[in-house]
Amino acid sequence: MTRAIEKKNLSIAEAWKLLEESIIYYHGKPIGTVAAHDPELDALNYDQCFLRDFVSSALVFLMDGKPEIVRNFLVETLKLQSHEKQMDCFQPGSGLMPASFKVEYNGSEEFLVADFGEHAIARVPPIDSCLWWIILLRAYEKATGDLALARQPEFQEGIKLILDLCLVHRFAMYPTMLVPDGAFMIDRRMGVYEHPLEIQVLFYAALIASRELLLPDGDGDDYLKMLTGRLGALKYHVRNYYWLDLKRLSEIYRYKGDEFGKEVANKFNIYSESIPHWLTEWLPEDGGYLAGNLGPGRMDFRFFALGNLMAVIASLASESESQSLMNLFANRWQDLIGHMPVKICFPTLTGLEWQMTTGCDPKNSPWSYHNGGNWPVLLWLFTAATQKTGRVELAEQAVAIAEERLYQDHFPEYYDGNYGRLIGKEARLYQTWSIAGLLAAKQLLANPDHLKLISFAEIADNLGCTL
Ligand code: GLC
Repeated sequence: MTRAIEKKNLSIAEAWKLLEESIIYYHGKPIGTVAAHDPELDALNYDQCFLRDFVSSALVFLMDGKPEIVRNFLVETLKLQSHEKQMDCFQPGSGLMPASFKVEYNGSEEFLVADFGEHAIARVPPIDSCLWWIILLRAYEKATGDLALARQPEFQEGIKLILDLCLVHRFAMYPTMLVPDGAFMIDRRMGVYEHPLEIQVLFYAALIASRELLLPDGDGDDYLKMLTGRLGALKYHVRNYYWLDLKRLSEIYRYKGDEFGKEVANKFNIYSESIPHWLTEWLPEDGGYLAGNLGPGRMDFRFFALGNLMAVIASLASESESQSLMNLFANRWQDLIGHMPVKICFPTLTGLEWQMTTGCDPKNSPWSYHNGGNWPVLLWLFTAATQKTGRVELAEQAVAIAEERLYQDHFPEYYDGNYGRLIGKEARLYQTWSIAGLLAAKQLLANPDHLKLISFAEIADNLGCTL
């Protein structure tokens, strides 16, 4: 064995050890992983298990044939699910899953304390938690073949409560889900309110997963009908109206404004002046992506990695769109991968735009953190998307780049700079989902069959699922 390979193997072993050390135990059973274990920094809430963060760890455990922790997590978080009616503005609505939880002690007695956003900075609601929870339940079923867990009445009830919350009629006009700012991985003010792509894609995947998991008995059939209708509309809406490539951009560029009526081209009243200058030059001939957001008179042209990659994995993006997205990564490698995969959003917000959009948030300063930082956790999503599109060589390159630095940098939470060259200004080290992101990506590459845990086949246009 050459020295380099020996060194790499040692480091992988270290990553596995760090993941083991991040496990949280409850009544002697493993139930989750802490967000980070940085000995130098104040833990704040990073000593908690975040639901969204745990998905990366869970996939590693499932792929490694250790489903017990995932099962325990699903069981315990289901017990935490909110059943409260909305009492005041900080009370979680019924069906919501917490952002995070931790084990607390009363003498020798252990109990779980959950945070639904009522303690989180800026009191942001973790809307993605309940969507990831359903997606993970399906992944657990795929990995273990254990159909009994999701069929338990409490699990069926839990899924329905989530669907009640997501499918309720409010004032929205679109099939997409209307949410406040910071409702997902980007959990600070970043102009990602309204109909952010990431939530729509997770919503879509969670609806397909629910279709697979829900039993038709009792009122199950009503839920199945309801969600099937929404799925079709959501797919049509995102594919047709969020997609951006040169052809589409040219159409938007020549849109007329203030069109009234049913059959109009510019349904959302997007003005061509709102197309940012960088975009016209940045879009390659054969590349494209789904826009970050779409609302009345507003298209957010920023590129958001998680929503786009998950759209490929969940087959919300069509096959040709998925190929175009991979072309975009290949053509804009420095911008989107750079020195650490993967850029969370591109480009960054600067100056007045940064002031107005983030509320002058110093943590989200230009090319840092959510505002254009590079996040190693996104590596597994990138890897899965390349596998789905037959472009694995891109993931192999990205994993090699990540491995160059992640071990020696002690798995930072994120990196800063246009190309992700600096360890994030306020990044924690030993961030669990950075460790799990790399391990999951490597497991996927080693055994592409694992992709089935997280991948979704395209639903047919007549809405029968072509699984
Ligand atoms: C930050 C991230 C959020 C993550 C949490 C724990 O708040 O923005 O996405 O879940 O840290 O890692």
